[in-house]
Amino acid sequence: MNTLAARLGTILAERGIDPTTSPAEAPSERVTALDLAAARIPPRYRHALAGHQQVAAWDEVALAARPGPSGTRGIALGPSLLVAGPTGTGKTHQAYGAVRSLLTAGVRLRWEAATTADLYARLRPRPGHDAERDLATLSTCPLLILDDLGAAKQSEWTEEITYRLINRRYTDLLPTLLTTNLPTAALRDAVGDRVASRLAEMTTTVVLTGADRRRQLSA
Ligand SMILES: Nc1ncnc2c1ncn2[C@@H]1O[C@H](COP(=O)(O)OP(=O)(O)O)[C@@H](O)[C@H]1O
Ligand SMILES: [Mg+2]
Repeated sequence: MNTLAARLGTILAERGIDPTTSPAEAPSERVTALDLAAARIPPRYRHALAGHQQVAAWDEVALAARPGPSGTRGIALGPSLLVAGPTGTGKTHQAYGAVRSLLTAGVRLRWEAATTADLYARLRPRPGHDAERDLATLSTCPLLILDDLGAAKQSEWTEEITYRLINRRYTDLLPTLLTTNLPTAALRDAVGDRVASRLAEMTTTVVLTGADRRRQLSA
């Protein structure tokens, strides 16, 4: 990044442009990365801002100087976040808002997002599909959004998949943003104690309260 920035500075200087005063002229890598990343954010959350104080605090911690791909700033190892609260209180909005602010801050990272229901559908064994590879991708990506944990119908198989996913991320200290609309005890019942115990250690919990914003918006 530094070499790239230096090279860019030289090129701009040769053209008589001061990079510090002509941001519009700088074909910044950051803008492209952000544009690409934004295209993967679902349209409803494309402008989401992580306005909640604790979510913003998580962002601060996650913004580490750890080198990311090609030497750019990467995400910190360690901090995960569990956003809990009733339906429509803005959990998914906060989760995408947090990713957006990392991307806006110039953090280059691979990230994946899935609702747990979609995750299980995606990982169901089926011919011609390497579910183990998919699980490995989700388990090892630098940032994962796992939306609506505990909301999908559970079975021994879903519990095992959730355990393997969470345990890998727990062991490798990989930042994970989870949302749930279940209170703590019900979440433990839904995902099993092995997962709940790991979540208790690896996440900071943010509880959103209030009315269902969807119903307010349609009113
Ligand atoms: N802080 C916010 N500012 C503006 N709109 C919001 C905010 N939080 C949520 N919303 C909107 O409210 C609706 C419900 O939010 P969502 O995050 O999907 O809720 P949840 O995931 O908790 O069910 C969505 O239309 C979302 O865009
Ligand atoms: Mg949601």
